[in-house]
Amino acid sequence: MTHPTSSDQARPTEWWRTAVIYQIYPRSFADASGDGIGDLAGITARLDSLAALGVDAIWLSPFYTSPQKDAGYDVADFTDVDPLFGTLADFDRMLERAHDLGLRVIVDIVPNHTSDAHAWFQAARASAPGSPERARYIVRDGRGPEGELPPNNWESVFGGPAWTRLDTTDGSPGQWYLHLFDSSQPDLDWTNEEVRAEFDRILRFWLDRGVDGFRVDVAHGLAKHPDLPDFVISEDIDSMGAAQMGHPAWAQQGVHEIWRRWRSVVDEYDGDRILTAEAWVEPLSEMAAWVRPDEMHQAFNFPYLMTPWDADAVRTVIDDSLAAFASVGAPSTWVLSNHDVIRHPSRLALTVPSPQGHGIGPDSPGLPDPAVAQMRGRAATLLMLALPGSAYLFQGEELGLPEVLDIPADRREDPTFHRTGGERYGRDGCRVPLPWEADAPAFGFSPSGESWLPQPGWWGEYARDRQEGDRESSLELYRAALAARREHGLASASLSWETTDGDVLIARVGDVMVVCNLSTSPVDLPAGEVIAASERLDDSLPPNAAAWLLTT
Ligand code: GLC
Repeated sequence: MTHPTSSDQARPTEWWRTAVIYQIYPRSFADASGDGIGDLAGITARLDSLAALGVDAIWLSPFYTSPQKDAGYDVADFTDVDPLFGTLADFDRMLERAHDLGLRVIVDIVPNHTSDAHAWFQAARASAPGSPERARYIVRDGRGPEGELPPNNWESVFGGPAWTRLDTTDGSPGQWYLHLFDSSQPDLDWTNEEVRAEFDRILRFWLDRGVDGFRVDVAHGLAKHPDLPDFVISEDIDSMGAAQMGHPAWAQQGVHEIWRRWRSVVDEYDGDRILTAEAWVEPLSEMAAWVRPDEMHQAFNFPYLMTPWDADAVRTVIDDSLAAFASVGAPSTWVLSNHDVIRHPSRLALTVPSPQGHGIGPDSPGLPDPAVAQMRGRAATLLMLALPGSAYLFQGEELGLPEVLDIPADRREDPTFHRTGGERYGRDGCRVPLPWEADAPAFGFSPSGESWLPQPGWWGEYARDRQEGDRESSLELYRAALAARREHGLASASLSWETTDGDVLIARVGDVMVVCNLSTSPVDLPAGEVIAASERLDDSLPPNAAAWLLTT
């Protein structure tokens, strides 16, 4: 089967169809101020390392004013920078430096909810039931004689009920507000035109400043079923709210008119600005609706991310992705890691199904063998970077970082951990601040040696300065692969399988043959020149390894 190229409909300016986009998680990237939390000045100072890596763009997780109850995804002011991260002037300097280096900049936008510290929610709390202030959120009377029961049975993605009761000021039974995430993250009511207009303003604020696009948080959650009916839960809501088809909170068709409106705002600007959906929607044919020509440009390919280390499953998800996105003229995206999931080397080597956003810790079942994890992580990346379309990298994966398991309970910050009484470890293990220099304080993350999540003692082995110039390092593998991907035009080539069964994936992408060994024994490589390999090779390709070849 041959898939058409992802650039068939591309105009030359459509950079995003083939881009490699690197996610910066600002809290954990680089800390210039020394308070142990990364900041914008730290990012600016380290941007040249990303240009040298060979990525096309960066995406920044939120740096907006926020009480940081959900690491900044609880926004109190969408058009200002939290003092933890700096100022708007620091943002402008970061943007200018990135553009000077040829890097585009995408920022996160969080439209599903605000922080409970947002002025709108403060006003909603202080106002009467039925007031316009409350109408910006999803606030309802409770059930039961005294309204003492929540309006429906929905669960928060982070565990526990999705409703919290407001205090009353006049002795009447308090109403309840909906929060699909933490109780500090009340959901906005997107049927309210005032909410829509406010987000048009927020989009324009950042577009006017010069950003190249937005990563849209929880893009499957904004429209709820108007009746807010109970959901009959067959199993727990997937950790990050992957839409179970039919859940009245997720993947409702009402989201699409919002994306069409946003697309028209973005299209007012020149420079090929983009919208990327974080939409945990299955199947891929449904996700494709988020990237129709008048909606978003890209959607994160979470079905690909969630695919286990299994050749048939990987082959199938690649085929399904290419077909589904091509059916609407969008490029497929590819992603293995982000700030919400177990880092992919560790995840792909678990011996039990991945618990996704539940995280893993020292007592989790089926923990990975570290050596297998390293190999699978490198092989999976090499396979991913050969695939046609756009790829997302998460900071630190170019260093081969595994998930950190042993974070003490009193240092964990993810609300998932706290809302479940520690039953779920949550996402802190992928968010540990980066190691830059093996021998510097906080491994170069912070001049003071502080780090908001503790860095393990062995972190220095993964430090960037240890890997620079070492051809067998993860860093140099990523650099070489990104350079070869560009040189051979893989992102805009077409893919065809050389074989469609067996535990070894063999595909031709443009003029490159990609081989990935998911079996348990070495396989002979076809004759040809190896241009990238995840392991040192003799004539054969070991299990858990991948290679790119030029064959004749
Ligand atoms: C998205 C973010 C995640 C956050 C959640 C609530 O899924 O990626 O980190 O916790 O939204 O905003």
